[in-house]
Amino acid sequence: MRPLIVFLACCLAAVSAAARNTTGRSFSSEFFFGAATASYQIEGAWDVDGKGWSIWDYLARTDPDHVADSSNGDIAANSYYMYRRDIEMLKELGVTHYRFSISWPRILPYGRANYVNQRGVNHYNEFIDELIANGITPFATMYHWDLPQNLQELGGWLNEEIVDWFGDYARILYQNFGDRVKHWLTINEPYVHCNLAYGYSMHAPRIHSPGIGYYECGRHILLANARAYHIYDNEFRSVQGGKLGIVISSEYVFPASDSEEDIEATRDYFEFHLGQYMNPIFSETGNYPQVMIDRVAAASLSQGYNSSRLRGFSEEQIEYIKGTADFLGLNHYSTRIIYRNSSVIGMFEIPSHEDDTYAASFQNEFWPASQAPWIREYGPGLYHLLVHIKDTYNNPLVYITENGVSTTAGLNDYNRVSYYRSYLNAVLDAIAEGCDVQGYFAWSLMDNFEWALGYTQRFGLYEVDFGDPERTRTPRKSALVYKEIVRSRTIDYDYDPDPYASNAYASSAWLLSIVFAIVNVLIQL
Ligand code: NOJ
Repeated sequence: MRPLIVFLACCLAAVSAAARNTTGRSFSSEFFFGAATASYQIEGAWDVDGKGWSIWDYLARTDPDHVADSSNGDIAANSYYMYRRDIEMLKELGVTHYRFSISWPRILPYGRANYVNQRGVNHYNEFIDELIANGITPFATMYHWDLPQNLQELGGWLNEEIVDWFGDYARILYQNFGDRVKHWLTINEPYVHCNLAYGYSMHAPRIHSPGIGYYECGRHILLANARAYHIYDNEFRSVQGGKLGIVISSEYVFPASDSEEDIEATRDYFEFHLGQYMNPIFSETGNYPQVMIDRVAAASLSQGYNSSRLRGFSEEQIEYIKGTADFLGLNHYSTRIIYRNSSVIGMFEIPSHEDDTYAASFQNEFWPASQAPWIREYGPGLYHLLVHIKDTYNNPLVYITENGVSTTAGLNDYNRVSYYRSYLNAVLDAIAEGCDVQGYFAWSLMDNFEWALGYTQRFGLYEVDFGDPERTRTPRKSALVYKEIVRSRTIDYDYDPDPYASNAYASSAWLLSIVFAIVNVLIQL
């Protein structure tokens, strides 16, 4: 019965999505397009110019086989040295905004603010200046998972002192770059970071504690984000006049059937994922969703703990965290279908965030698959998620800070083309519905180090040749399609550029320019 219901639901959604066709609709001139990356995933130069070790540098040296292809980010796409080419790519795409991240251990090699690495500061100064000189607006992420190893040795995100450490780091960023960076993203994807790094031991620092460490990490991230926000408010905002947001990831979820249980499980799933981070910051009451507070407290007591594994916030902390984002940075990739029945009992490790949520999920196998086992294309999910955010959190200003899909290597990435069209169509739908979405960053500008999956996943609009010491970047079909969407501000489903032809043209244009230069020199002789 369930597969049938899901299949029918998807057909209906597909029909309604088709009905919400983009013909004649366009993105307004205020809406901006950009592309996104993160420091450890692209920079390389892991030990140059005074940079300290991050938790990923440590993992690469102590546990290299944990990564799928035993690779690491030592060189990655070499963007530390090739950032001028990256900026050229942004210009080729015609986008006006770039989301990148600053490596904490490049600025503070030992994590703490007592020693600032001036060469790291110089690097980002040059980079930011170059962006601005090329008309690209910087959106800078302060923390995209590359924690200084020294801080991890003191517990990392499990130690509440990180709230001070992060605040001090943020202040140094505002002091050095805040005259030019007017959009700050504090911390990337608390749910994914805490779940994979401090819950299931899949990412550095590989801590296994899905029912305790996971919650502690999330709690400290909320407090650290608030600290960075208040520092900006009290010391910098009046002079620098920028905006700060946090980057929260969320799938869209819907119930597998119209049973009371599945509907309730879906509500809970939202609260235990999106709500865990949205409610404290974006709701009027603040604090964690009540269902989380109650459920984890009851489960903890029944499991023999003498207090809730979800450590609470004081009244003062609730107020301190509430409202600490000027906008939401939303990362979205896919949709899941939720159910709850007796089979869910005992399905997950005890204790764990998943067991506390008490809901299981799957994806519809009719949705186009990708290289990543967790991403299937279902564009309408983004529309529904944005409407859910609008209705639940009083229509916050949203920038989509990541959206994309992975493919295998190769320039004819039809799946990515289809994915971007479908998800951008959903953004147009959401805007038409009154959602305050003002910008969109494609993930990613180029292929990069996909954490524990190494280079086996390609997320780039530009293909990077990792076998080539030059790390040559070549635009894929999706880059050309995205460029056309950015130019025309509409989605043309018939546009089918040939990336091989356009690259052949580019190289012949390059050859021609050399011939012209030689002829020019000869003429002058
Ligand atoms: C979200 C993360 O922020 C990014 O680092 C990662 O590469 C993408 N998802 C794709 O998995």
